[in-house]
Amino acid sequence: MEVESGYKLVVAVDYGTTFTAFAIKSNAVGQADTDSIRLITRWPPGVTSGFDTPSLISYTHNGEPPLWGYQVEPGMQSYAWTKLLLDRNIQHGDFDDEMLRVVTGSKILQLPDQKEAVDTVADYLSQIYGHIQYHLPRVVELPRGCGGDPSGVPIYFCFTTPASWSEQTRSLMREAIRRAGFETSPLHQVWTATEPEAAALAVFSEKRFNLQSHDGVLICDCGGGTVDITTYYVTDVVPTISIEQITAAMGAKCGGTAIDSRFYEFVSSRLEGEFDNLPMSEIQPGSRAMTRFEEVKKAFDGKSEVTWHFDFNLNAPSTHSAFSNQKQRRVFLRSQDVRGLYEPVLGSIFALIRSQISAANERCRRDVINKVVLVGGFSASPYLQETLQRALKHIGNISVLVPMNPGETVVRGATLQGLRGYSPPTYKCWRNYGLASVQLFDLSHQNELQGLEYGSSTLPANFFVHWVLCKGQRYSNEFQSSFTIRVLHRENDLLVKAVDIYESNVPVTSARVGNPDMRRVDYIECHFNGLDLTRFPHQTIAGQTVYYLEVSVEVSFPMTDRVIRFSARALDQEIGEKYLTMAHD
Ligand SMILES: Nc1ncnc2c1ncn2[C@@H]1O[C@H](COP(=O)(O)OP(=O)(O)OP(=O)(O)O)[C@@H](O)[C@H]1O
Ligand SMILES: [Mg+2]
Repeated sequence: MEVESGYKLVVAVDYGTTFTAFAIKSNAVGQADTDSIRLITRWPPGVTSGFDTPSLISYTHNGEPPLWGYQVEPGMQSYAWTKLLLDRNIQHGDFDDEMLRVVTGSKILQLPDQKEAVDTVADYLSQIYGHIQYHLPRVVELPRGCGGDPSGVPIYFCFTTPASWSEQTRSLMREAIRRAGFETSPLHQVWTATEPEAAALAVFSEKRFNLQSHDGVLICDCGGGTVDITTYYVTDVVPTISIEQITAAMGAKCGGTAIDSRFYEFVSSRLEGEFDNLPMSEIQPGSRAMTRFEEVKKAFDGKSEVTWHFDFNLNAPSTHSAFSNQKQRRVFLRSQDVRGLYEPVLGSIFALIRSQISAANERCRRDVINKVVLVGGFSASPYLQETLQRALKHIGNISVLVPMNPGETVVRGATLQGLRGYSPPTYKCWRNYGLASVQLFDLSHQNELQGLEYGSSTLPANFFVHWVLCKGQRYSNEFQSSFTIRVLHRENDLLVKAVDIYESNVPVTSARVGNPDMRRVDYIECHFNGLDLTRFPHQTIAGQTVYYLEVSVEVSFPMTDRVIRFSARALDQEIGEKYLTMAHD
């Protein structure tokens, strides 16, 4: 079957620690805006619910496919938060929640016998894959001629991953995606986007936020497992919004499950030694108690004083009910206890936000962040919103914005990313940048040359700045360019030389060093020791040998943030390097 050229079908999958969503969009109808994206709201076994389904799986023992999402009922042995287990051997980060780390390593979060986290993720995603196949012909207009059969249609699957994941965890995720069947057809293409970057696309496509040029926007994705942050600068809003990333995405494990983990600790302290006798089905995510706690947590606004109670069966239910020796324990939870569960987690989230505000301000050398956008399911918490709003007020004039359905932002953004395709981030250059170089002496034009002190005499020299980056132009982190610079060396001088880096705010016609519109901002320290100087051009002037040391300087943007790398080579050897943060208006 021939698919019309230009037809594109994107399925974004946001596999979350606690909830999973997918969204579908073809470019056949509508603009690439967030409103025309179809989110799935029907989940097995016939539940019509929100746009996502629990990331839960329960294995059957009769050869039937596993139960997943809403099919898993309280009391069933099930596996949850597996996305966190995928990443559990990774080093503990600064803002990770301590209690979440303890629970991730405890028996509350087991894996099935003989299975690793990657196997369980693959099993869960293969159910999602089946559900996508079922829904595709029902929610999008498939290309003409395919008879409603999606198997011959090219599909771009866009998966989202936390910013903080290591390359090792990312490759485990890719393995799970492959084993779940997403790459079985040669017509399928799979790629991944980081969660905060996907969220940013949705946020910047959202007209309701009324973002203005020169806004500094911090996007904070508060999920179930991780909280991920990126910062952006709005360079222009006309004709379309144009942004640049200020700091690289970063995150920590301090999402909604950290509150649940602290609830485990709370219950454990109330039940004392008896917590260990609790059957896991009584306490695991998805259990009766945790489903009830979820309701308490979601509605909590810190305003009213309420007491809830939770009943736990301490002994595993016996299959012969006549012999069951059920012992119940009741645990009371008061509003001030819930406040105590929230507080350390909100403290970590605020510390993470503050660290990224400082990093962005430092890069731009001024207070650049004036808007914080909270997205992700956890940011629907009224208590979280109010607490962060209050805390942010203390550090500056920062407004806090939350989209209508913050849990949908990441999957919507990933769909947009899929439709647009990958394009490397670009940075607007706010200054001209140049490198100082010396011209070969031309003794026939002495009048035009500046003086160079040389012992007791003055030698003619012509220093000029070779412009390497232009103000107003956008550069991507794939940009790379080389320039040849000459440095003057006189016999008996030190062989460590500075290649000066200049910046200018105005178009400089005369690039002569000394022009008042240019400012020396830094230098590349170049080491010529051990190099055969006679291989460089040299002249004998006033009885002394003067060398023009030729340096090839490569200019690039190796990172995702606004840092310029200058790398110097001479005679095929690396002789110096400098990282310079771009100035910012
Ligand atoms: N109103 C609310 N108050 C408090 N917590 C909430 C509220 N609504 C959702 N949550 C919590 O938010 C989390 C789910 O958010 P989300 O779906 O963004 O996370 P996820 O995608 O599963 O996790 P991650 O992206 O970290 O892998 C859960 O921990 C849930 O309990
Ligand atoms: Mg998420």
